Amino acid sequence: MNDRRHWSEATQGIRSAEYRTELREHSPAIFATSSFVYDSAGQAARVFASEEPGYIYSRFTNPTVEAFEKRLAAMEGAEACVATASGMAAEMTLLMTLLRSGDHVLASRTLFGSTISLFNNYFVKFGVEFSYVDPCDLDAWRVGVRRNTRLLFAETPTNPLCEIVDIAALAEIAHKAGALLCVDNCFLTPALQQPLRFGADLVIHSATKFLDGQGRCVGGAVLGDRKRVGEEVFSFMRTAGPCLSPFNAWVFLKGLETLALRMQAHSAGALRLAQWLAGRPQVAKVYYPGLPDHPQHALAARQQRAGGGIVSFDLKGGKDAAFKLIDATRMLSITANLGDTRTTITHPATTTHHRIGAEARARAGIGDGLVRIAVGLEDVDDIIADLEPGLS
Ligand SMILES: Cc1ncc(COP(=O)(O)O)c(C=O)c1O
Repeated sequence: MNDRRHWSEATQGIRSAEYRTELREHSPAIFATSSFVYDSAGQAARVFASEEPGYIYSRFTNPTVEAFEKRLAAMEGAEACVATASGMAAEMTLLMTLLRSGDHVLASRTLFGSTISLFNNYFVKFGVEFSYVDPCDLDAWRVGVRRNTRLLFAETPTNPLCEIVDIAALAEIAHKAGALLCVDNCFLTPALQQPLRFGADLVIHSATKFLDGQGRCVGGAVLGDRKRVGEEVFSFMRTAGPCLSPFNAWVFLKGLETLALRMQAHSAGALRLAQWLAGRPQVAKVYYPGLPDHPQHALAARQQRAGGGIVSFDLKGGKDAAFKLIDATRMLSITANLGDTRTTITHPATTTHHRIGAEARARAGIGDGLVRIAVGLEDVDDIIADLEPGLS
């Protein structure tokens, strides 16, 4: 069937939102221009009044950025997408558009650190309330909803413990309360999980991670329905301007072309690594949703196409053993970023989750022996060979 509505995400990532100038280039061009010109004052007036199609100014309309937005929207099954300068800019843009003083946001307690900082240090200044619950405890979400709850916010799988949040159940709780559900989908991407299909209202991305996939650019996106995102979020972007550059949009556009293939390869490598780690006597526990003994393996199989590229594990020897393992690697990159062709390794308690404090780490189950690996696209045998000396 060659109807584009029935294309798979892999095909959407390559063929949707293709554009071509009169030069007939095969690969998309980059429109590195801040503004656009008109044939007459009358045409300018008509374009500004939306009476005639046309681009105005790259803070809010640029052909390369628009192509990335349309292609990502097609992959997520969203009506609209607004691209942003970073993943954090996507969160700020969404919250600024959606919330007013007196609103309450109910969020997972396992969120990216800067997300919690954005909520607790900045949005509280404008009278928005936040509270946090165990992301896997549906009763806690039900009890946590308040009369003024406007938004439920979660990441799934969570970082770094790969817990799975039930998107359909959370959407039902949100809608019963008259609230919206937003899912941060940057760990799996639409190649492996489409939250809108399970009832979420909004999706945000850090495109910096797997959408780029090669650690080159920072960017983000907000996705959802035509009115909320296509009109309201777009209007905030037009006014405030935390926009994506055309060059970064072009890099992400090319990234989407290989996304489905890469996510399958990241997942296959992560599964092999998780299986290998599970058989090592020095490893106390492996956290990977693709393993059958993961407590939410069945839920993951329902809402994800594969396990994703992130594997975490507890070492019996605690922090000493974790540091020794990390320091003994020769090929892996010691960095907290993820979603790259290069495998990265980090010790969450002293890096990504250092700022939340020991008590919050203990509550979240992030121990001193925990190591997180974001599996890249190297041969998994070489990744295992790099880890072996530090484990034995
Ligand atoms: C889950 C998650 N959401 C959002 C962000 C923020 O994205 P960015 O770094 O592009 O601002 C990150 C960054 O690490 C992340 O891991």
